[in-house]
Amino acid sequence: MIGFVSWDATLAADLIRARRQLPGATLPILHALQDTFGYVDDQAIPLIADALNISRAEVVGVIHFYHDFRQQPPGRHILRLCRAEACQSMDCDSLAGHVRERLGVDFGETTADGAVTLEAVYCLGNCALSPAAMLDGRLIGRVDPARAEQLLAEAQA
Ligand code: FES
Repeated sequence: MIGFVSWDATLAADLIRARRQLPGATLPILHALQDTFGYVDDQAIPLIADALNISRAEVVGVIHFYHDFRQQPPGRHILRLCRAEACQSMDCDSLAGHVRERLGVDFGETTADGAVTLEAVYCLGNCALSPAAMLDGRLIGRVDPARAEQLLAEAQA
């Protein structure tokens, strides 16, 4: 289970204010918001734009460019499957198909019961133990369908 704070505009404004002087402040601000709330709420966009004196479209452009940023609250657990080269060579596509079918969601989606958000990631730095996955920040290597079942059971318990 991951613990995020519910959206709070005052806290968001504090996070933004504390980082507005950083070089390239947009990214550290977006990361801080996502680390705190689990996603970047639409209400944060004008706050960031005003604080950095840039347009709202520029903020949205950064959010869309970096696929790491969520715009909706995630589920209670976040399962990330690596789709990069080393994991591709170890048939992560079959694993991904199994997990998507089992959960009934595609990448970037959350199960209807709110238990699991499934995300694609491009290298977890665990290439020697591919295919790799991460459940709520915990790195797992050599994930086969049986291991994936264990992870899903854990997440859906
Ligand atoms: S390519 Fe999957 S962990 Fe590096």
